[in-house]
Amino acid sequence: MKKTLIKNISTLFQVRKNITEPLRGKELGEIPIIKDAWLAIENGIIVEYGNMKDFPGIADWQKLTIIDAQNVNIFPCFADSHTHLVYAGNREQEFEWRLNGLTYQEIAQRGGGIINSAEQLRMASEDELFEIALQRLKLIISMGTGAVEIKSGYGLNTESELKILKVIRRLKNLDLIPIKATFLGAHAIPIEYKQDKQKYIDIVINEMIPRVAQEQLADFIDVFCEDGYFSKEDTEHILEVGLKYNLIAKIHAEQLSHSGGIEAAVKYNALSVDHIEYINDTDVELLKKSKTIPVILPGAAYFLSLSPAPAKKIIENNLPLAIASDFNPGSSPSGNMAMQMSLACVMNKITPIQAFNASTINGAFAMNLQNQCGWIDIGMRANLIFTNKNTTPTTLCYHYAHPWIEKVMINGEFFN
Ligand code: NIG
Ligand code: FE
Repeated sequence: MKKTLIKNISTLFQVRKNITEPLRGKELGEIPIIKDAWLAIENGIIVEYGNMKDFPGIADWQKLTIIDAQNVNIFPCFADSHTHLVYAGNREQEFEWRLNGLTYQEIAQRGGGIINSAEQLRMASEDELFEIALQRLKLIISMGTGAVEIKSGYGLNTESELKILKVIRRLKNLDLIPIKATFLGAHAIPIEYKQDKQKYIDIVINEMIPRVAQEQLADFIDVFCEDGYFSKEDTEHILEVGLKYNLIAKIHAEQLSHSGGIEAAVKYNALSVDHIEYINDTDVELLKKSKTIPVILPGAAYFLSLSPAPAKKIIENNLPLAIASDFNPGSSPSGNMAMQMSLACVMNKITPIQAFNASTINGAFAMNLQNQCGWIDIGMRANLIFTNKNTTPTTLCYHYAHPWIEKVMINGEFFN
């Protein structure tokens, strides 16, 4: 058995007991800490922790690694509940078009956007995709992500959607960090069905979902509910079929306009509704009566110059709020969660502690990984961020984009 003891930790952040629900309201503004702490890890799992003054001593020195963490603060890793990190190529050209005045929708109408990524992805082999996705996974881990959800959605035909989900399964099987897979066949209408959306929806429903379920390739199902993509009615239909195959809903809703996605999501007990720039008061009331978690993706709002989602209003209404990166080649080409936190503070006007809780505990809940990660407790994975002793959640947001992470520990081992 591999055992590690970390002692003399300057401050251990986000130490919690008995968390059974995502944090909401006032709780989101608090972060429990232990100063001068110790933490014991066995086989990658946290087995005990406490204050140094109560340290019981070492009974068994065999195979024990001791880390002296004087001058070091430790945080749980981020839990990023929304990414599209399996993609081919990039969309730098479209970025330039947008800077020259075209909108996201205008670019999509020109055959850019998700369709462009689908064209590039269809040409890549499963092995090629796996290699690039693995590089991206390692990159986000080095930036502090310790659990992630990854979507399909750039295949847009059965073969290519399954190809992406198989890549995600291979990433899962590496057991680096916990990964959840989401089937997002209804991400856009592929060029070959541009004039016949219903035909494509039929393929999603009758061909893709049964295959995905049969091969157990996904945990969740997602739909891009948006004008020009999938309507509220389409979304409901797809979620209903998904549920029959035990795929839990997690949807893209109210990003570029108000399309009724939240209503559809709540009706089908979605785990989360993501983006929500255009959420209205009726939606807030619906969410209050549900268990659905509202997730903001500040990186996408920043990159597309959208008005930020009303995160403060969500917190004031005692709803749980999560933050995710939306890492994808079109609307959010970065999986840096600390950057998302800083954007959430500056654009959505929430506090650094609210942003940290939304990016750790609530992120874990937004992908049903709360039994493995999101905070420090006995039984949780030892996926940890090491910083110097002056770094706090505020520092991450204030010195945005600075290399404040000194080391990342994954399953009890330093990651490099
Ligand atoms: O979450 N909104 C839809 N899907 C992605 C964008 C995908 C893309 O542009 O490639 C998002 O923003
Ligand atoms: Fe997305």
